Amino acid sequence: MAGNSFGKLFKLTTFGESHGEAIGGIIDGCPSGLQIDVDKVQAEMERRKPGQSAIVTQRKEPDTVKFLSGIFEGKTTGTPIGFIIENANQKSKDYSHIKDVYRPSHADYTYDQKYGNRDYRGGGRSSARETACRVAAGAIAKQLLGNVQITAYTSAVGQIQLEKKFEELDLAEIEKNPVRCPDPETAAKMETYIKEIRSQGDTVGGVVECVISGVPAGLGEPVFDKLHAALGAAMLSINAVKGFEYGSGFAGSALKGSEHNDLFNPDGTTQTNFSGGIQGGISNGMDIVFRIAFKPVATIMQKQQTINSEGESVEMQGKGRHDPCVVPRAIPIVEAMAALVLADYYLLNKTSKF
Ligand SMILES: Cc1cc2nc3c(=O)[nH]c(=O)nc-3n(C[C@H](O)[C@H](O)[C@H](O)COP(=O)(O)O)c2cc1C
Repeated sequence: MAGNSFGKLFKLTTFGESHGEAIGGIIDGCPSGLQIDVDKVQAEMERRKPGQSAIVTQRKEPDTVKFLSGIFEGKTTGTPIGFIIENANQKSKDYSHIKDVYRPSHADYTYDQKYGNRDYRGGGRSSARETACRVAAGAIAKQLLGNVQITAYTSAVGQIQLEKKFEELDLAEIEKNPVRCPDPETAAKMETYIKEIRSQGDTVGGVVECVISGVPAGLGEPVFDKLHAALGAAMLSINAVKGFEYGSGFAGSALKGSEHNDLFNPDGTTQTNFSGGIQGGISNGMDIVFRIAFKPVATIMQKQQTINSEGESVEMQGKGRHDPCVVPRAIPIVEAMAALVLADYYLLNKTSKF
């Protein structure tokens, strides 16, 4: 099975399934001499882990990252950083009903078609359990990036939208509510809505916005490895993601050039940021801004018509512990993937000039 590695110089390979013994990864290409704060890694894991609030899946996992190599006396050695995260709270019998039955809009059918074989327990490799490895590696990448500030937050849940602009937000509010929306009033509405949706046995989607400050001008490798292309690929590799836009995104297509151009200040900064911090695939020193759309997840606790592996029409209903809305837990995953891209592009940029 290919496609389990991400990055060119700062490269993460992950392994593991939702209900296997453990998941884990190897980070190759992290330069030596980087001081690693393991508590910071664990703090990121806490933000992603299941069971952290009433509005996420109730699977209970400690998600302790055990580093096996590549770090000695608190610093990276330049050799591969290997780590594992144990799976401690599997309830595989909750998934026996999907052994031969395909959940509509999940990955059961496509995995079977592609591999002819599938670990159906907890969704196997298609489960977002794998993203715990990304968060662990992203926490190392964040430490490599030093003063670069990556901040993601919930900007929509279903039809409920955060109306305030980034400049008006108090980012200290993000971690104060389980939805991770920086506006407490909107967060409360979102939380109530997610609870309501869950009580109906249903799920709901949402939007995450991410703003990255402190990135110098010059990161990005035109023409095929433009910075926004790499960020897009990173975000679209996250489970349940349906859309990515940066800067003015789709809304920008309705504007005129005279409205959309970011006019320069004498120091090279711009008066507006419709470009989202990237021009020609290269960071321009302004904040990098993008948004990611997440679908309502597939496993719902309502009866639906589907098919089994024999192609027969059957009725099914989701079982087990699932997220009614993935957006709150996706925030650290988005940040981690952004950090992996930027760490990689920071290292790649070291070859750009003599
Ligand atoms: C943080 C997170 C948690 C998720 N939790 C669930 C879940 O509990 N149940 C579910 O059916 N899908 C869940 N998903 C989504 C599935 O992993 C995803 O929909 C599935 O692998 C199919 O892939 P696709 O939606 O990208 O096509 C979650 C995704 C994320 C990012």
